Amino acid sequence: MVTSEQVWAALRRVRDPELGRDLVSLGMVREVVVDGGWVGVTVVLTTPACPLTEWIEGEIRAAVGALPGVERVEVRMEAQVPPHARLRAVEGLGIKNVIAVGSGKGGVGKSTVAANLAVALAGMGAVVGLMDADVYGPNLPEMLGVSRLPAPRGNKILPAVAYGVRVMSLGFLLPPEQPVIWRGPMLHTAVRQFLEDVDWGMLDYLVVDLPPGTGDAALSLAQLVPVTGAVVVTTPQGVSLSDVGRAVRMFERLGVPVLGVVENMSGFVCPHCGRETAIFGKEGGRRLAERMGVPFLGEIPLDPRVREGGDEGRPVVVADPEGPAGRALRAIAQQVAARISVLNLSQEPVRNP
Ligand SMILES: Nc1ncnc2c1ncn2[C@@H]1O[C@H](COP(=O)(O)OP(=O)(O)OP(=O)(O)O)[C@@H](O)[C@H]1O
Ligand SMILES: [Mg+2]
Repeated sequence: MVTSEQVWAALRRVRDPELGRDLVSLGMVREVVVDGGWVGVTVVLTTPACPLTEWIEGEIRAAVGALPGVERVEVRMEAQVPPHARLRAVEGLGIKNVIAVGSGKGGVGKSTVAANLAVALAGMGAVVGLMDADVYGPNLPEMLGVSRLPAPRGNKILPAVAYGVRVMSLGFLLPPEQPVIWRGPMLHTAVRQFLEDVDWGMLDYLVVDLPPGTGDAALSLAQLVPVTGAVVVTTPQGVSLSDVGRAVRMFERLGVPVLGVVENMSGFVCPHCGRETAIFGKEGGRRLAERMGVPFLGEIPLDPRVREGGDEGRPVVVADPEGPAGRALRAIAQQVAARISVLNLSQEPVRNP
């Protein structure tokens, strides 16, 4: 007969390759139930967007299934995102992680990445907010097909909801096509109000779309809230890459860890002949990430469906999830979630046994 002690010992031999430790010491095994030859294991992952869910489940089955006397193994995978240590300390804020999406250069696809990242994470089961900090060109409402906010609750602004994501943008508050002329302090106030006056509720991830450049919005954000990490978007060509290098350094100077670099618009697959053309070059983002010592999170091909999705208010991860861009963006969302789990674990104070 197998005992639960034997099952726990077997689980101690299953390592999470991202976090580099075994499931038991990571506190990820919630429950072990043994009933004759039947074993039930409940595991709680640090993100519902874990790229290794299936792999870990397979390892558990193999380890427990190999014990003598085990006839059937049932594995239940749940997820609970732990809060970033410094965010947990902010009183009254229910946001567990803040992800800034930035770049050095304009037009490289920040808003596209931010919107699809948020929608993909929500689709995987996370509770997600999306804040449009691009007060100069707030285009997230359009990209997500929402145009108005719900009625406020008391003195709190309620975010709009699109594809399961809670969205806040200055675009909701301005008449369309009205130019916005900002002075620095106003920008800071806007970002602060988006954080303090919006009823975000409890969020696993708040994705923040920054305006182009290495400037004020990132500084304001970093001053107002502890940012878990930044995703830096680039296109493969040289001019964009040198700007992205500056963006990486800027986040580092602000004390914001860089979760990684995303290369957007890398390669175009001709829908007629199927041949791939590297319009802006290729691999530049990966090489730059290597050189700067930050992770590379993946590449998104140039794909007309990305632009159509943005224009129609249906992000490509929903409109065409199995297409090349949809797949790439979903994989990037998993990578981002995984990097955050690793980062938050490394910031945990060491627990004395
Ligand atoms: N991989 C892609 N394939 C095709 N079109 C894309 C891709 N990525 C972005 N686009 C399109 O390029 C345009 C610019 O993208 P986006 O608005 O996301 O860039 P941005 O970096 O946020 O720009 P800004 O600096 O103005 O805020 C949009 O029309 C978008 O739909
Ligand atoms: Mg933008």
